[in-house]
Amino acid sequence: EKSGYKHFMLKEIFEQPRAIRDTTLGRISLDTGKVYLSEMKITEDDFRNATKINIAACGTSWHAATAGKFMIERLARVPVEVDYASEYRYRDPIADPSALGLLITQSGETADTIAAQREMVAKGMKTIAICNVVGAMIAREAHGTIYTHAGPEIGVASTKAFTAQLVALFLFAVHLAQKRETISTEESSRLLESLSLLPGKVEEILRTVDSVCEQLAKTYSTARDFLFLGRGIHYPIALEGALKLKEISYIHAEGYPAGEMKHGPNALIDETLPVVVLATKDNDNRDSRLRYEKTLSNIQEVTARSGKVIAVAIEGDEEIKQLVDHVLYVPSAPELLLPVLEVVPLQLLAYHIAVRRGCDVDQPRNLAKSVTVE
Ligand code: M6R
Repeated sequence: EKSGYKHFMLKEIFEQPRAIRDTTLGRISLDTGKVYLSEMKITEDDFRNATKINIAACGTSWHAATAGKFMIERLARVPVEVDYASEYRYRDPIADPSALGLLITQSGETADTIAAQREMVAKGMKTIAICNVVGAMIAREAHGTIYTHAGPEIGVASTKAFTAQLVALFLFAVHLAQKRETISTEESSRLLESLSLLPGKVEEILRTVDSVCEQLAKTYSTARDFLFLGRGIHYPIALEGALKLKEISYIHAEGYPAGEMKHGPNALIDETLPVVVLATKDNDNRDSRLRYEKTLSNIQEVTARSGKVIAVAIEGDEEIKQLVDHVLYVPSAPELLLPVLEVVPLQLLAYHIAVRRGCDVDQPRNLAKSVTVE
């Protein structure tokens, strides 16, 4: 059933173009620039008048949520609060019936996420689940569900479910923006067009970057610690890169906002520390270009202290080559969609390092695929 792949995780990484395509399929119209979501017990007015979006999730799904916050706030101009589902209930949240709840979960059976949903509903909120398993508990209890059509995910480390969640969040953000009239038809058409190009771009990354990551694993599989850095929407992807690595290779890894390095973690840097930096940019986006410039200075802070830098950058970026030890290239895309591309090299890097270390990639120690206890 692994279709010739050595592990389910690798198979699932390679299934991402299809997972993204299937999650988009039938939900967008490039002609009208519209996003269509299936029937929900949520009215047009609920979408239009929502004062806030509260998202709760765990693990990798929480990383998707944190990236989703950038998409929703940027496109629909509504504040988003993201919680770890395991924390949500215990902080006596200010749940307002005019806020919409969003629960993100691959399995739809994560106990903490279900509990967070129940807390939201008890306080009068309507909820939408983003879920990968048809008919799962969370979907049965939500007022609406946006299914990710990633297909069954067997590897404990979530890969294709994550990129499908990012796509579902993007669809939700565009949909909400249309209802709230914060996006023009031209902008949504342009964004949906870019979305439809993602599967081909992920295919290209798989074709070009897999062997590079396999090579890098030779050099870095003995590292004791890793840092992953990113700014803005790329910061949650740094967190996801670190989680993938620690979960399957047992190497200690941390994700950090690049700009926070000088407030403490710079003290960790020496010649033994590999630092993976998300240094992609959307040339059509001024904020993205600024963020990129700042990220380059952060890279220089690492190399000045002899840290080893592996950068994820946009194809054609020759400038960055001079500054870092290794570059993993991905094709260009609008800022809000770059996470879908840049996480793929991080998944492959974690995979190849774990394989070299002889770890049980699909079934890491102490972990279960779905966490059904709180
Ligand atoms: O099924 P869920 O998305 O609710 O699962 C949440 C986490 O348990 C899950 O993402 C976990 O962090 C993965 N093992 C990460 O790869």
